[in-house]
Amino acid sequence: MMFTQQRRTAALLLAAAATAFLGACSRFPSRQPPLLVFDDMKFQDKYKPEAASKFFADGRASRRPVEDTISQEGYQPDVAYATGIAANNTYVARNPEPLNEQTILRGQAKFNVYCAPCHDRTGSGRGVVPAKTSWVPGNLHDDRIVNMVDGEIFHVATMGRRSMPGYRFQVSEKDRWAIVAYVRALQRSWRGSINDVPADLKAKVR
Ligand code: HEC
Repeated sequence: MMFTQQRRTAALLLAAAATAFLGACSRFPSRQPPLLVFDDMKFQDKYKPEAASKFFADGRASRRPVEDTISQEGYQPDVAYATGIAANNTYVARNPEPLNEQTILRGQAKFNVYCAPCHDRTGSGRGVVPAKTSWVPGNLHDDRIVNMVDGEIFHVATMGRRSMPGYRFQVSEKDRWAIVAYVRALQRSWRGSINDVPADLKAKVR
């Protein structure tokens, strides 16, 4: 009994002390700056907008965005380039990336990472994923797919189709177009014959 009584008195005293202490902070409006025991982060080294700076060579605290970057709000996608679908609602007919060795090698590198697990490195659809699952990727050498325009293949790589997931978050727009260029190279070589091989290289082809 005594014990609980003591505890209650202690709690009351504590509450009274706390109220008195906290009350001191706000009860009387004052023009004096508050007493800062710890200044926390109230005073920081920072620049105000448009302020001068001794640190940067051009003397300005406000910096330009880093070259080749834009803010998320400022991003205006080139819809045709980003989706493969043009303004008139048809697939973009031709790959907008320059078709050169660099593009195709880039496409090869990205295809082998992002597409080959399912489509295998030749595009025939016998990658490691279908080998272990019942997933059946398309054979990229089917007439139907060979006859697609570039934008349709790009759109499949971007948004996916039926059971295939899209790769727009993993692979950049530019790299997806490079992949399309490489898929074209795969399709061309799949249907190629010995007559397509330059004369000086024929001996090397088995
Ligand atoms: C996780 C496995 C997987 C990966 C990775 C994958 N695909 Fe596919 N892909 C599929 C499957 C499964 C289909 C068949 C979809 C269907 O018909 O249901 C398919 C179909 C396709 C088709 C044919 C679509 C059609 O109309 O039939 C194209 C083109 C294609 N993929 C391109 C790509 C490209 C390019 C990549 C790399 C960016 C890629 N795929 C990565 C599984 C995959």
